[in-house]
Amino acid sequence: LANGLGSTPPMGWSSWNHFACKIDEKMIKETADALVSTGLSKLGYTYVNIDDCWAELARDSKGSLVPKKSTFPSGIKALADYVHSKGLKLGIYSDAGYFTCSKQMPGSLGHEEHDAKTFASWGIDYLKYDNCFNDGSKPTVRYPVMTRALMKAGRPIFFSLCEWGDLHPALWGAKLGNSWRTTNDITDTWESMISRADMNEVYAEYARPGDPDMLEVGNGGMTKDEYIVHFSIWAISKAPLILGCDVRNLTKDTKDIIANKEVIDVNQDPLGVQAKKVRMEGDIEIWAGPLSGYRVVVVLLNRGPWRYTITANWDDIGIPLETVVEARDLWEHKTLKNRFVGNITATVNPHACKMYVLKPIS
Ligand code: DGJ
Repeated sequence: LANGLGSTPPMGWSSWNHFACKIDEKMIKETADALVSTGLSKLGYTYVNIDDCWAELARDSKGSLVPKKSTFPSGIKALADYVHSKGLKLGIYSDAGYFTCSKQMPGSLGHEEHDAKTFASWGIDYLKYDNCFNDGSKPTVRYPVMTRALMKAGRPIFFSLCEWGDLHPALWGAKLGNSWRTTNDITDTWESMISRADMNEVYAEYARPGDPDMLEVGNGGMTKDEYIVHFSIWAISKAPLILGCDVRNLTKDTKDIIANKEVIDVNQDPLGVQAKKVRMEGDIEIWAGPLSGYRVVVVLLNRGPWRYTITANWDDIGIPLETVVEARDLWEHKTLKNRFVGNITATVNPHACKMYVLKPIS
């Protein structure tokens, strides 16, 4: 979508994965504060996104959405002012149907122009647009109405299409929005996470930000190694890095993962090419993709219950055979002493990965 946004994947936080409908302005403000005090905003996590359940069930007499009196008494404009004063951006949520998925607030179907204007007048920077309780017409009919409304609203608003991947939004999303969900909802388990990585991978050829859903890192349902896999795959897939944990209470392990600047740099690489699976052998997978500066990112992934020795061959990852490369281990934060020609090998624990940036040196 030609609104000047999303040339690299968006980064930020959303209320949904951790808080669902238990949201209020105090928590959102504290989250904005925490993004700044933890240094995460400096790393690029700038969107603070309110998901479902922020509005009253009834519109006001002018037809506008009304922030819930009990949880957002100061209103969204005041919240946007606060978030902007911290150097951050505010995201909001609506739905291309009669109600949002929680059914606790109205959707924007039939009110697109009015709502887009309201969002712009509040200072909103990002809209996630869900697909529940619609009229049965195709998303390719309903979503463009909001796209046009946003383009006329007088403020650049990142448009995140949340159609869940049903009708292959990778094929049409780029015209209508800045990112498109390629999956149904993630939960905080290994199976859910890794299967969303698979669903999104299918669309590698179409990537700008294809969106396998928000991050679960820090929510407690996976091991540290599994969360490292989660973050690594989202990074190389050029997926939006939208945190879904309580950033006011980060453990050291969570912080080490989400604040890994080297991995974030891969996600934000200007070449913007989504990595894909280049080899699959049972539980072993090699994911790889090109980066700027003739570099290649490679992830050696062990999806199984046993330890494996995994080898990535230059042939598979798109490096000419004789090329000598230097390898940077992005989780150990070490450039390996050895030089590599033809392949690179590592032992990888169950449900874990190794992630390298390979740089040709001769
Ligand atoms: C469905 C979406 O896929 C989720 O990410 C979340 O926004 C919920 N709806 C909210 O009801």
